Formats: sequence, structure tokens, C-alpha cells
Amino acid sequence: MIVCLCEGVSEARIVEEIKQGARTIEDIQQACGAGSHCGSCLFLLVEMLDKKIPLAKSSLHDKAKFKFR
Ligand code: FES
Repeated sequence: MIVCLCEGVSEARIVEEIKQGARTIEDIQQACGAGSHCGSCLFLLVEMLDKKIPLAKSSLHDKAKFKFR
């Protein structure tokens, strides 16, 4: 499944980046570009990151909300 349409980044690629150490939206953006354009996929990225790092949930959700304002 493609998560980020702007960059054509798949769910598998995001999972791999998280496995390789990505812990923030910025990490994902730098690694593969996902989430760095329209922002429509940010909530999916946040959800995927939350599964790996629940302690960062509040700050990531705040960031996603900010992008959509
Ligand atoms: S769909 Fe990911 S930045 Fe546009």
C-alpha cells in the first residue's frame, strides 16, 4: 500500500525506516521524503510511529495537527 502519494512511498518502506531507527516525522521525511509535501499522509505516519514509540505520541499528534491548520 502506498502511504505517501506525493513521494510514492509504500507502507513497507515506512516500516523499514522505523526498523532502521526513524523515530520522528523528520526522520521519515529525511529518509524517504514521505510527509514532506502536501501533508495528507502525516496522520498515517504518526499512527505508524505511535505503534513503535508511544511516548512520543502527544508531540507527534500536535505536529500533525499543526500541518493541517
Ligand atoms: S501524500 Fe505524503 S506528503 Fe503528500
